[in-house]
Amino acid sequence: MLTKVHTGLDPVPGVWWKPAHKAEKVWVAIAFAWCMVLFAMMPLWHYRGGQNPAGVRGKVDPEAFYARTQEFAAQYQIGADRGIPIVKPPPGADVYLVGLTYSWYPILQLEAGKEYMLHISSKDVNHGFSLFPLNVNFQVVPGYDYALRVTPTTSGDFRIICNEFCGIGHHMMVGRVIVTDGDGTPVADNPNAQVESGGPQ
Ligand code: CUA
Repeated sequence: MLTKVHTGLDPVPGVWWKPAHKAEKVWVAIAFAWCMVLFAMMPLWHYRGGQNPAGVRGKVDPEAFYARTQEFAAQYQIGADRGIPIVKPPPGADVYLVGLTYSWYPILQLEAGKEYMLHISSKDVNHGFSLFPLNVNFQVVPGYDYALRVTPTTSGDFRIICNEFCGIGHHMMVGRVIVTDGDGTPVADNPNAQVESGGPQ
């Protein structure tokens, strides 16, 4: 009498085709329902959460963007901190900020409660725009102008930290954004302007 030999061509007997247990079905249903909740939260949070910015992206030549930023800085410069111009554009203006190894150019002075069109880009490699200590993060990509309508709500002297590794000086890439309450003290008169600023020159 021939005995059946398992060669590997015959499937090994198992239990996977048996109907799922009721508890398993319930858990699959709960997991699927939760997936749908999280899926719905993505667009909901974008529109209602006020956390994800709706920016306008456009292609731009990195050198041309840098030249435009320098032009902008020269137009509205009111001072300087370690060689970086402090620039105070009028409310409603187009504001330019460029990341380059290893600094942020220029230093912006904005008024709280006023809207600006902020254009951010990079002159060379990928940088990360992180406004400290607020929770604001953007990728700064060369060749792309990331334009955002911003209205600063909190006055203060903020730091821009680079949060994308961009080279040997990455950890020293610190910039400044100053937000004043309308008739804010001119930065030239601020005794802390020179000492507080991080970043090398
Ligand atoms: Cu720029 Cu890291």
